[in-house]
Amino acid sequence: MKIKPQFIFILTLFVILVSSFSLVKEIDKRFGSLKYKDFESPEYCGASCHVQFYRQWEQAMMSQAYTHHWDEIEYFELAVPHSENDPDFEGVHDGCNGCHTPMAYLAGDVPPPRPEEGSRANESVSCDVCHTITGFEGDVPFNFNYIIEPGQTKYSSRKGEKDSPNHEIKVSELHAKSEFCGICHNEKSPFDTWVKSTHLEWKEGPYAKEGVQCQDCHMPKARFRTAAMGTTYDDTRMHLFHGAHSPTKIKGVVELRMNPDIRQAVPGEPVVFTLSLFNQKTGHKFPTGSVEDRILWVHVEAEDAEGNVYHLPVDKKDFEGEEYTIASDVLAYQDMAVPLEKPDFKGVRREDVPLGDRIFRMPFFDPQGRMTIMQWNTDSLGVDYRIGPRETIVETYTFNLPYETAPGMMKVRAIMNYRLLVKPVAELLGVPEEEYAIREINRTETEIEVLP
Ligand code: HEC
Ligand code: HEC
Ligand code: HEC
Ligand code: HEC
Repeated sequence: MKIKPQFIFILTLFVILVSSFSLVKEIDKRFGSLKYKDFESPEYCGASCHVQFYRQWEQAMMSQAYTHHWDEIEYFELAVPHSENDPDFEGVHDGCNGCHTPMAYLAGDVPPPRPEEGSRANESVSCDVCHTITGFEGDVPFNFNYIIEPGQTKYSSRKGEKDSPNHEIKVSELHAKSEFCGICHNEKSPFDTWVKSTHLEWKEGPYAKEGVQCQDCHMPKARFRTAAMGTTYDDTRMHLFHGAHSPTKIKGVVELRMNPDIRQAVPGEPVVFTLSLFNQKTGHKFPTGSVEDRILWVHVEAEDAEGNVYHLPVDKKDFEGEEYTIASDVLAYQDMAVPLEKPDFKGVRREDVPLGDRIFRMPFFDPQGRMTIMQWNTDSLGVDYRIGPRETIVETYTFNLPYETAPGMMKVRAIMNYRLLVKPVAELLGVPEEEYAIREINRTETEIEVLP
């Protein structure tokens, strides 16, 4: 029997279609494979044994990864509707839960009930999730590629001097390494673009070379008891997980020093101020993680002897993409039109920062090349103008002293400010102010003498 070429063509097409379809479906066998009751609740772990760790975890974002207001808003107002309104993004909201509430994902409870319903999805990144991870698939930790085996055996890097009366402890070297954190702190978008790369940034920086792990800064070692009946070690891991939401963690991340090129000047004369910005605190870039949301900028102003204040815009360096690193009043984020069901949505201001101020950021672009805060809709990345670990960036400010400048001492200050979420987006979506309130990272001051 002769088989017609057309038939073979159609058959091939069919096979390709079926296999690509099943690729999507088969991608994760873990989805829906477990139940909530396979995991202990954090309250159980913390009730009488690990009371202190429980109280620490409870104050960290880890315990609110599903319930925190901005997480709830972005998930339910943007991700879920995007998945419903655009067939290309069908199911895009499933993956969020793989990192933000792993139990819900593993239980196939997607989308989970809203936080106010008080379901177990609210437990977010819980004790038993982290302590039953046994490894990760492949070579690079990312997109929640954990291997997880809930049960009576808990995994941690220390066997412990005593056995726990409650569970077995198996030694897991992974728990002492940054790769463990990378499982959720590296993320690739459906367009194969790295939209979160905290672990990868760390890996190429100075701390990785020195063997300083994420745990060393976010779970610092202290003389402390691991459990009420447990052992006191000199190097017990505090469960602080303090990050951008912790004021003491972000305070002073970047050190600032500023110097003029001349100490005395007359009105009309140019003075160049050089600002050195040294990232002395982070093990990755700053900002890191939710880079699409964050905005870090420096405002420089001069105050003359009579109290008149002048704003100094940053000198341009003329690198590619620099326009994204200098505050302007352009509109952006038009891609929210789809989830918000506002076809005529023109976008909102890209940032609400004094025009001409330098911004340290890396813009994310949607497939149409517009700036986006929806990391799952990110096709490409723009210029990376963030401050690397132990990196020093230098900016200059050329100031032509106005003719009306008062004679006497003129103070010039630089203030580095931070917002966790760009304000116009927060206002549009009704995110509470605490998420976009200005947090001062640091400030410095220098002076020159204005001669009459
Ligand atoms: C985000 C993941 C994560 C979460 C959530 C988490 N832990 Fe841990 N925990 C770790 C890691 C990682 C280590 C080991 C760090 C190391 O050895 O360097 C650890 C260590 C421990 C240890 C041993 C401490 C020591 O120094 O030997 C105990 C006990 C513990 N965790 C209990 C808990 C309890 C109880 C909770 C919930 C209240 C919890 N953990 C939540 C990641 C986590
Ligand atoms: C199972 C996934 C998962 C693992 C593993 C994990 N994290 Fe996280 N982590 C998250 C999520 C999700 C958030 C975001 C919480 C939110 O919604 O703001 C978070 C938040 C944080 C924050 C707080 C950020 C802030 O804005 O204040 C820090 C710090 C942090 N993680 C550090 C670590 C470290 C260190 C490790 C490894 C020891 C680790 N994480 C392992 C999922 C994880
Ligand atoms: C040398 C200390 C140090 C090391 C090592 C380090 N961090 Fe951080 N990390 C910081 C500091 C300081 C901040 C606060 C400034 C900021 O938000 O970036 C921070 C912030 C964070 C945040 C919050 C970012 C945000 O905008 O919400 C996360 C998440 C985080 N770190 C995860 C990690 C992970 C994962 C690793 C390992 C791959 C790691 N850190 C290694 C010091 C460190
Ligand atoms: C690979 C793991 C992973 C996936 C998948 C993921 N996230 Fe996250 N998400 C994180 C981590 C880790 C952080 C914390 C990073 C930081 O602190 O800057 C975070 C932070 C956030 C924040 C910012 C919260 C804040 O602290 O300001 C929001 C909102 C958010 N995610 C929503 C989503 C949504 C919606 C999805 C799905 C479309 C999603 N995430 C998918 C790991 C993930």
